[in-house]
This record gives sequence, C-alpha cells and structure tokens, in this order.
Amino acid sequence: MIERGELHPIMRSTVMAPLTFYLKGEEATQALGKALADILEKGLTLHLKGGLGAGKTTLTRALLRGLGYQGRVKSPTYTLVEPYTVTLDGEKVELLHFDLYRMGCAEEFLDAGFRESFNGTTIHIIEWAENADTLLEPPDITVSIEFQDDGRKISLTPVSPKGSACLQKLVFRQE
Ligand SMILES: Nc1ncnc2c1ncn2[C@@H]1O[C@H](COP(=O)(O)OP(=O)(O)OP(=O)(O)O)[C@@H](O)[C@H]1O
Ligand SMILES: [Mg+2]
Repeated sequence: MIERGELHPIMRSTVMAPLTFYLKGEEATQALGKALADILEKGLTLHLKGGLGAGKTTLTRALLRGLGYQGRVKSPTYTLVEPYTVTLDGEKVELLHFDLYRMGCAEEFLDAGFRESFNGTTIHIIEWAENADTLLEPPDITVSIEFQDDGRKISLTPVSPKGSACLQKLVFRQE
C-alpha cells in the first residue's frame, strides 16, 4: 500500500528533486552554463529567476558559448528578446533569450507575437518571466539564483517530465 504523501513508484521515476549548487564566482556560473548546454534539447523552456545582477544573463551567455555560439551575447534588457541560431545534434535550432524586466504589461507579450515562437522546436530562456503573468506556459526547468556570501546559490528545478529527463543528464562537478 502507498502511504499518504508518498509518491507512487511510477511517479518517483519521473519526478526529481531540485539540484542545488553553490557557485563560488563568475567562473563557476560559466561552468554550469556550459554544462547546461550539453543537456539542452529543442523545444525546451527555462525560466531564470533571481534579482538584478544575480547572474541570469551570465549563465545564458555561457550556455550559448557552450553551444558554440561565438558572436556577441548582449542582455535583452531593452529589446526584450535576442534571437540566436544554434546547432544541436547537427540540426539548426532557434534559441530566444528573453528579458521581460522592462515589459510594461503582460499583454505586450501577446502584442509582440512572442507566443507564436512556442512551437515545440524553439528553445526559450526567459529572465523575469513573472512579468508575463499567466500568459506563459509553465517552463520545463526553473533556475533560481540567490546571492549567498560572495557567490550564488543556484537551484535547478524540473517542472515537466522533459525537463526532468534533461536534468538527469546534467554533469556538473564543483571543485
Ligand atoms: N557565482 C557568482 N559569484 C559572484 N558573482 C557572480 C557569479 N555569477 C555571476 N556573477 C556576477 O554577477 C553579475 C551578474 O550579472 P548578470 O547581468 O548576469 O545578472 P542578471 O541576473 O542577468 O541581472 P538582470 O536581472 O539585471 O538582467 C556579473 O557581474 C557577474 O560577474
Ligand atoms: Mg540579465
């Protein structure tokens, strides 16, 4: 019999606890971004949470570098979104990096046609997703960054089975 509060064995295999790491300095954030590049799949959506200067863009920049993108990666602070084309398993995939901090209202997200990019193929990395309220579907993975001592505490939480399957492949060793 399954006790109340206990997960059914089938659920247990698909639901995974958050992964938490202490990132001592910017290089550690960059190393994690590169490790995330190795597990990324097309259609994946990541929400990056954390205050101003937490390291969301730093992580995204390193992830893009890990995917082999060599051009400039600027923060989408004013443009709301920056598009990239990356290669995953030999296939070209669009990756959209959003920063919705300066979005005036959630409807702006609809008016800009951003919803149309959720097509099962495009990868979305979204800073300040909370500003789009309920217009956004839940992500596959939520990444939360908090300031801790001189570094950052980061938690990667799988939200969907797809996000969970990806995170189970993450290889990240801290020195
Ligand atoms: N693990 C870390 N320890 C200490 N400093 C870090 C760490 N990771 C990143 N940083 C520093 O923190 C800052 C993060 O800036 P970044 O632009 O990435 O933040 P952000 O979360 O995208 O902010 P915003 O919400 O304004 O877009 C950079 O100065 C970077 O060098
Ligand atoms: Mg940023």
